[in-house]
Amino acid sequence: MTGATAGIGLAAAEQIRRVPNVRLLLGTRGTSTVSADSLPLDLARLASVRSFAAAVEEMLGGGSIDALVLNAGIQFDDVDQRTEDGFETTFAVNHLAHYLLLRLLMPRLATGAAVVITTSDTHDPKALPFSSGFAPEHADALKLAQGQVRLNPESKASGRRAYATSKLCNVLTARALASSPFARERGLGVIAFNPGLTPGTQLMRNSSAGVKFVVAVLMPILSPLMRINTIAGGGDLLANFALDRIVLPAGRIYASQVKRQLTWPDPSELALDDAAMTKLWRDSETLVRP
Ligand SMILES: NC(=O)c1ccc[n+]([C@@H]2O[C@H](COP(=O)([O-])OP(=O)(O)OC[C@H]3O[C@@H](n4cnc5c(N)ncnc54)[C@H](OP(=O)(O)O)[C@@H]3O)[C@@H](O)[C@H]2O)c1
Repeated sequence: MTGATAGIGLAAAEQIRRVPNVRLLLGTRGTSTVSADSLPLDLARLASVRSFAAAVEEMLGGGSIDALVLNAGIQFDDVDQRTEDGFETTFAVNHLAHYLLLRLLMPRLATGAAVVITTSDTHDPKALPFSSGFAPEHADALKLAQGQVRLNPESKASGRRAYATSKLCNVLTARALASSPFARERGLGVIAFNPGLTPGTQLMRNSSAGVKFVVAVLMPILSPLMRINTIAGGGDLLANFALDRIVLPAGRIYASQVKRQLTWPDPSELALDDAAMTKLWRDSETLVRP
């Protein structure tokens, strides 16, 4: 599991680790308060993803993985950050590193294993009309890797659009995996999980002081009134997906928490674009090639 040191992932990991006969392994770049095995993983470095996957292989011995939870995520105000591999950091951490981890660990997934990729409804302008000004315009990995989140490269690129676009990539990756012969043969349960707006996590840690202040003041007032999602609720759902405790409705892949309820809507129009899905999978393969 990635992203288990804070927020929704931490809440989920706390639940998973208490289940008898479950061995939880975390990939973390720092220390986790969760009492579980962990191995170093910095998703901003593809070399770290490779060494993590190799260490997991070694730890597994002849065993296999029953659930792969790709939950880590970050957000910035701009698209100016680059990883040591030279890629825009939001895209690299939220999508590309997870894509590589998935590809490396796929052969070790057990029959019927769950693969949960945490996405966000910010990928979908029809679900969140108030943030449609930051909606993804494309899912071209080669452009996104260079921070080009707009179709017109002269237009202003914001960190919020980069984030929403990386979350579109998460849904497309989940769809590509679910529709692959590999997933069908192995009976994988693939879920793109949107916890929905969830205040109190560390996701805004790179935002400006002004944004953080507004969120800190408004959210405690609005949360109960608008039934805004909670860390505990998102953690419950994430844990239950990982533990295969939720039956996936036939043909559904996008699980979205709305007002503290689990729903199964269609993802965005772009997320349903098969050509974009196939191209993202192939281009990501090119980008992670050593
Ligand atoms: N909160 C929301 O409103 C919301 C809404 C929709 C979707 N989501 C999604 O939910 C997921 C969890 O978000 P959250 O709100 O719980 O955020 P969070 O509290 O900031 O947790 C993010 C997790 O990702 C890890 N992470 C970030 N960069 C990493 C890196 N380079 N290498 C390894 N791990 C890294 C963090 O580890 P460190 O402790 O090392 O930083 C942390 O464990 C994300 O995918 C997010 O996009 C959140």
